[in-house]
Amino acid sequence: MAHPYSARSRAIEPFHVMALLARANELQAAGHDVIHLEIGEPDFTTAAPIVAAGQAALAAGHTRYTAARGLPALREAIAGFYGQRYGLHIDPERILVTPGGSGALLLASSLLVDPGKHWLLADPGYPCNRHFLRLVEGGAQLVPVGPEVNYQLTADLVERYWDKDSVGALVASPANPTGTVLGRDELASLSKATHERHGHLVVDEIYHGLTYGMDAPSVLEVDDSAFVLNSFSKYFGMTGWRLGWLVAPPNAVADLEKLAQNLYISAPSMAQHAALACFEPETLAIFEARRAEFARRRDYLLPALRELGFRIAVEPQGAFYLYADISPFGGDAFAFCQHFLETEHLAFTPGLDFGRHLAGHHVRFAYTQSLPRLEQAVERIARGLKSWQG
Ligand SMILES: Cc1ncc(COP(=O)(O)O)c(C=O)c1O
Repeated sequence: MAHPYSARSRAIEPFHVMALLARANELQAAGHDVIHLEIGEPDFTTAAPIVAAGQAALAAGHTRYTAARGLPALREAIAGFYGQRYGLHIDPERILVTPGGSGALLLASSLLVDPGKHWLLADPGYPCNRHFLRLVEGGAQLVPVGPEVNYQLTADLVERYWDKDSVGALVASPANPTGTVLGRDELASLSKATHERHGHLVVDEIYHGLTYGMDAPSVLEVDDSAFVLNSFSKYFGMTGWRLGWLVAPPNAVADLEKLAQNLYISAPSMAQHAALACFEPETLAIFEARRAEFARRRDYLLPALRELGFRIAVEPQGAFYLYADISPFGGDAFAFCQHFLETEHLAFTPGLDFGRHLAGHHVRFAYTQSLPRLEQAVERIARGLKSWQG
């Protein structure tokens, strides 16, 4: 018999929502009108100027590898964006263009984590983080967080959970699945708490730009030594192009470049050329219009769900998710999701996909559907609650 597949691959959990998605697709294939509120990507297709730039790049033959750190022009454009949005001067030499934010996460975890070491992560949180850590033979120290701390790590929690094997903390602002944002002071105190312990602070800013009624501060405003993950997927609407970036302290860049060369050689070339169009005023205007649309959706769905009895203790300020407590209805979140899929053809994600802490009685709704579609979804939820026997 052949050797078993690696322990690390066996330790990685699939997305539980995939089982629901497979069933949703079956229902759809059988002719049912399924509303998808489980999907973590914008429903808008990539903005036209980016598509045109991508087509022009292909026509011009930009089909080969780029430098491992990415196209210099794109790294400069990203640096310019930090100037424009945050008033920060970031040296383009500190920026690595990666295959999605996921590529940035792969680089950061490969650089910063030795076997047996771990990062503190908020639970609930984005599940892939702990899987990336497992892949480099490290781990995640999951810190249970609830509404009392805005579902985010705090300096106190870092102090409480840090142990001899901790080497860093990763936070996301805005966060998935809760949409909560860290303020400048909170970022500064997290930075202080981490650095006092000689650890690294990694901040996932992938949902920056998708905040409503406010702008999220970048950790780079208060801590120049933090590692920042970002992406063209969400605000820039380019999920399928697989493009993101990492901002690193200057002394980490050479090691990261070496890792990038070995792990994936370069981010997709045509996507990098296309992304240059993101920073043009006409394209930024499209992103801002989409952001306003997401704000309208949140402002509709949040009170509508609360009205129906879902508990959403803190108002999410960003991303496109609502993380809702279903305890008033009783029962298990996975069964709750199955019930709505089977009876109402409405898909959303069980808490299990985001950790353990609140998992059994939470679900995540993604408002990545139009307002009329969300209105239909709310009607279906109201009806489905009547037949739910938790
Ligand atoms: C919090 C968070 N980080 C990272 C990612 C990775 O996204 P991508 O690789 O498309 O940039 C996601 C995707 O949903 C996410 O929600």
